[in-house]
Amino acid sequence: MAGAVPLTLTVNGVETARMVAPRTTLADFLRTDLELTATHVGCEMGACGACLVLLDGVPVHSCLVFAVQAQGQRVETVEGLVASGALAPLQQAFHERNALQCGFCTPGMLVNAHALITKGTVPDREEIRDAISGNYCRCTGYEAIVDAIEAAARKLNGEGAE
Ligand code: FES
Ligand code: FES
Repeated sequence: MAGAVPLTLTVNGVETARMVAPRTTLADFLRTDLELTATHVGCEMGACGACLVLLDGVPVHSCLVFAVQAQGQRVETVEGLVASGALAPLQQAFHERNALQCGFCTPGMLVNAHALITKGTVPDREEIRDAISGNYCRCTGYEAIVDAIEAAARKLNGEGAE
């Protein structure tokens, strides 16, 4: 690959080294080089939220980050969060409340919701709406998604949480 540069980072707990073109986005790197296709790409301009991943624990739009900018950092995708069980309360709540239809927005929604509910508090519905205001969903009308995130937050952080 002409002009490729070395990249080393940790993806879903696995130290990963590849040669990448400097202008490869993190989204394309994850989807094409690592075949982690749960991270979706919609707008490619930071507007839809489908491509959110955690970079050192913080949600970022992987369509706006070059892969080389993640050098030495820790990336977590939906695949990794599912495998570790970290998304289980959200997955269950989304399932029980029918909070997805086509599912295109769901990976980004889950990554963002996970970051919100692991702050250790139960956000109110306004805070949930605010947190997911950058996640476009064409199908659900958002109400069921807010219900699901609220339920998962209560399960994780509310009274009687395990
Ligand atoms: S694809 Fe990244 S925000 Fe839409
Ligand atoms: S479930 Fe289809 S875009 Fe959200």
